[in-house]
Amino acid sequence: MADYDRAKELKAFDDTKAGVKGLVDAGIVHIPEIFVTPAITENEFSAQNLECSDIVNVQIPVIDLEGINEDDFRHRKIVEEVGEACETWGFFQVVNHGVPQHVMDEMISGIKSFHEQPNDIKMRFYSMEPMKKVMFNSNFDLYQSKSANWRDTLACLMAPNPPTNDELPEACREELLQYSEHVRKLGHIIFELLAEALGLKPNHLLDMECARGHFIISHYYPPCPEPNKTLGITKHTDPDFFTILLQDQIGGLQIYHKKQWIDIHPVTGALVINLGDLLQLLSNDKFKSAEHRVLAKQIGPRISIACFFTTQLQPFERLYGPIKELLSDENPPLYKETTVRDYVYYYNSKGLGARPSLLHLRI
Ligand code: OGA
Ligand code: NI
Repeated sequence: MADYDRAKELKAFDDTKAGVKGLVDAGIVHIPEIFVTPAITENEFSAQNLECSDIVNVQIPVIDLEGINEDDFRHRKIVEEVGEACETWGFFQVVNHGVPQHVMDEMISGIKSFHEQPNDIKMRFYSMEPMKKVMFNSNFDLYQSKSANWRDTLACLMAPNPPTNDELPEACREELLQYSEHVRKLGHIIFELLAEALGLKPNHLLDMECARGHFIISHYYPPCPEPNKTLGITKHTDPDFFTILLQDQIGGLQIYHKKQWIDIHPVTGALVINLGDLLQLLSNDKFKSAEHRVLAKQIGPRISIACFFTTQLQPFERLYGPIKELLSDENPPLYKETTVRDYVYYYNSKGLGARPSLLHLRI
């Protein structure tokens, strides 16, 4: 398109403050050019089109946390399963994780209500300012990425120094507070399991203050009239220690594993856990921060809630690098140290779909 002024179109979309849902509500039948993703090639969509079903049917491990503190044998078995999943996939699902089903259901419907409330109320939360503790926007990396994604997001930094209750949107305030408390507790359990799986004392990662912050990013993926031309989220890794993801039953999340895209099918009652770049760094590459993406779909909306364990851009000077206890002459450090803030800042400045940010710290 000769007369296509991308910068102008991006700005116009940003100025609507209505996100992708605003476009869908306006009844568009073709997606605007800013969302068209030229890199979606056969390879990008291969998992959908593959004839060979044995690859597509591979599933990430589902780990049952039942009895985790009651029985030593069970506990050791769970640690082993977690370690294996982190080394081979960087992704797993957990069931019997202690977050009640009603809390998850209410969170999903609270977030749906937030995104579906009248625009004039929702717009008050619209911001592209990354230091804000509560912000609604569409594509945090709108001006950095090559193509925009079919997704709107409400992001709330719940710790440290959470926003006051009044600052949280009324449409999902109670649900957010309730879910945040449950997911924080589960996060602690996961940090202990990860430490043990690395051969460290259970509280090692907690003592390093890895659980100091958590950031809840609640996505709304509207139905897309041309799902083969864009993505819900571009391929990326997460810039945190790990993420706990709650998704509804729509599907679309995929992980890039052994050069194939694998669907992560929603499992009722389960939460998805995926390791982020900072845990790959701490573990000196023993554990993986796996690349993943979300397809756009004709059906929807799809709701997903990602809880990132990170202090994001908050001032916090602690340095993180490969854990000394894991290093040896045969296993020298592969990464330089960083603060969480510097890392997130660098990651955000590149936008999704860029060269993996961890390479920037590679020794
Ligand atoms: C993310 C993410 C996946 C999803 O927020 O980083 O990968 O299913 N989300 O929404
Ligand atoms: Ni992600």
